[in-house]
Amino acid sequence: MLREGALDGKVIVITGGGTGLGKSMSEQCLRLGARVAITSRKLESLKRTQDELSVLGEVLPWACDVREPEQVDAMRDAVLARWGRIDGLVNNAAGNFISPTERLSSKAFRTIIDIVLMGSVNCSLSFGKHWIANGERDKCMLNVVTTYAWTGSGYVVPSACAKAGVLALTRSLAAEWGRQGIRTNAVAPGPFPTKGAWSRLLPGELMERFDMRKKVPLGRLGEHHELADLVTYLLSPFSGYVNGEVVTIDGGEWLKGAGQFNLLEQIEPGMWDAIEQLVRGAKGS
Ligand code: HXC
Ligand code: NAP
Repeated sequence: MLREGALDGKVIVITGGGTGLGKSMSEQCLRLGARVAITSRKLESLKRTQDELSVLGEVLPWACDVREPEQVDAMRDAVLARWGRIDGLVNNAAGNFISPTERLSSKAFRTIIDIVLMGSVNCSLSFGKHWIANGERDKCMLNVVTTYAWTGSGYVVPSACAKAGVLALTRSLAAEWGRQGIRTNAVAPGPFPTKGAWSRLLPGELMERFDMRKKVPLGRLGEHHELADLVTYLLSPFSGYVNGEVVTIDGGEWLKGAGQFNLLEQIEPGMWDAIEQLVRGAKGS
């Protein structure tokens, strides 16, 4: 979507950048000229992604559990030691699984809150403090939420609570840190196939039983490059006046679920004449 070289000279850090959507975002950042640090718990998996993507540009893999503030600071310092600057942070790392809420232990709930909400908080604090202390401007943070951050959702309640918190973090920091030259935005993807999400949210036969495509007005799942294009736009100077925004990229999925009568799409077109007669016949009653 952006022209070649749109991210030239930029250093971008992507948490969870070794797999799934984070990997696709990393790839697109590299194609546009950025140097990219990818970070998550599993160094081996990060190194495999580095091997794959380094034909496109410089990649720094760094093991860091975003739940641990000291590890986050060490990761930030490692990126600074390597490239001397950081321009963008993508809070993409997440943990999630489906479960009836009454089956969850307090620890299970906290595990998700710690990764998703506290992980985003830890990274935002670490990077924001560095930029502000050094008077560095033209920086951006991009948080990956999802549409149930505002609708809520059963069966993924810890994730819904955590993502709602990340959305509040996005809007709050946009207002507070905008004057420090830091833009904070979010993207809210609908269903994009990844091994990490699909194996935990639609395991086994659930994939066929609950065909996500049927929930989407566009009738298909998202393609990784579509999200990567949006993410790189929001990280680039072309979105320089966008701050505090959450951009939904779900093919219309959540609105379809929200509109009370959208289920009438199940009515066969041939039935509408009879239905119209019934409706007209109700006149005056
Ligand atoms: C109930 C569960 C459980 C399950 C784990 N727990 N899985 N409880 N049902 N299926 C409980 C454990 O029993 C334990 O509690 C607690 O949660 C912590 O589990 P651990 O395995 O020790 O945690 P950890 O090793 O830190 O692993 C975290 C994880 C794991 C979240 C459980 O799945 C993970 O590493 N995920 C990272 C990647 C990921 O989840 N990607 C998907 C993102 S998709 P007790 O009390 O028993 O000790 C996404 C999509 C959003 O976010 C929107 C889609 C449209
Ligand atoms: P994924 O491949 O499982 O990505 C999650 C990443 O987070 C992994 O790379 C994982 O790596 C990392 N991670 C987990 N816990 C971590 C921790 N404690 N510290 C550091 N890194 C950690 O799944 P995905 O589908 O690409 O998800 C990426 C993002 O998109 C998430 O924020 C998710 O909520 C969001 N999203 C996805 C969809 C979808 O349909 N796929 C829809 C809406 C939103 P390690 O295991 O190596 O730590």
